Amino acid sequence: MEGRRVLVTKKNIIFFFVISLLGWNPELSEAQMAPALFIFGDSQVDVGNNNHLLLSIAKADFPHNGIDFARQQPTGRFSNGKNAADFLAKKIGLSSSPAYLSLSDETHASYMNGVNFASGGSGILNSTGYYGKSIRLTEQIHNFFKVHQVMVQKMGSNGVEKHFSKSLFVIVTGSNDILDCFESESKDETGKPRELVDLMINYMKSHVKKLYEFGARKVLVAGVGAVGCVPRLRLRSKTHECDEEVNSWAAKYNEQLKATLVELKSELQDLNYSFFDLHAIMQNIIRNPTAHGFKEVKAACCGIGVLRAKIPCLPISLYCPNRKNHVFWDLYHPTEAMARIVADAIFDGPSEYSVPMNVRQLVLA
Ligand SMILES: *[C@@H]1O[C@H](CO)[C@@H](O)[C@H](O)[C@H]1NC(C)=O
Ligand SMILES: *[C@@H]1O[C@H](CO)[C@@H](O)[C@H](O)[C@H]1NC(C)=O
Repeated sequence: MEGRRVLVTKKNIIFFFVISLLGWNPELSEAQMAPALFIFGDSQVDVGNNNHLLLSIAKADFPHNGIDFARQQPTGRFSNGKNAADFLAKKIGLSSSPAYLSLSDETHASYMNGVNFASGGSGILNSTGYYGKSIRLTEQIHNFFKVHQVMVQKMGSNGVEKHFSKSLFVIVTGSNDILDCFESESKDETGKPRELVDLMINYMKSHVKKLYEFGARKVLVAGVGAVGCVPRLRLRSKTHECDEEVNSWAAKYNEQLKATLVELKSELQDLNYSFFDLHAIMQNIIRNPTAHGFKEVKAACCGIGVLRAKIPCLPISLYCPNRKNHVFWDLYHPTEAMARIVADAIFDGPSEYSVPMNVRQLVLA
């Protein structure tokens, strides 16, 4: 034991001195816990794919989005700053995965540490947020297939298999399917919420299976959050309460999704997954905001009108001076502060939110 102790010798002191001169930063040099991070889903994790969709209205590449980002730059993130995809990458020791459509060189090197396929406005169903507005999950997975092919050419199937089996795959979606069902009149594919939830589950099952077939072995699947509490839906109540009907369908979907993942695990035995209960953490934060550093859980920070949710966050909109004490950035999306707390919980959170394990355990599995 004695020999293992770090002795405070002159040599050690000089060693540490030299290291601090070189600008050693423990946060930056954190070891990579996974070789790559692949992200799928909606605006909660889009880092700029929709900037490249000419006809899309689901965009965030203008002020005041990004007001707390480096150089106050709108990036296409639906946030005042970073989103959960950024924070998760940092936790794992990686840079934020680049937006798939931002990559001009379709090379193995640009895909090596992961790619972000997520698209604002998209959902689980083919019919959600489509008509050129966003990249459907089906297409996101097809884009991943193209990445897979490029990597196989360079690394060989065995190399890719090994690389992907250690990588983390993240799916954050489902809110738009539920929101579309309750907000719009056109209910082509979905109809009633009961059928909608069943459809969402069937689709998710096949989406996760597809990722597995391409080599994913570690998958984080987030449930749908408390979407009934976003400022836009609170507007529908005179007293600005959450829409509990919408929340209850989100919760039903989450329960079914959890059960489906258990089924999938018994079918695909070497699949490891983490289910994250976004609904529960949002409810807990909204009920007890001060414990998490928040003051405002109802109004958006950026927008116009009641709850700053009548008109979206646009360059002409007002925005709150303190983004750190708001849960919601705009009428639908969380602030950077909220995204950070969510990402922390996804990574290290308690079993109250993550079953059967959190992402730290998942990447080490
Ligand atoms: C969704 O779209 C994809 C690609 O266009 C298609 O292959 C698939 O069958 C569709 N799924 C359903 C359930 O309609
Ligand atoms: C991951 O899955 C494998 C295969 O079922 C299992 O042996 C292993 O224990 C799982 N890892 C964790 C951390 O549960």
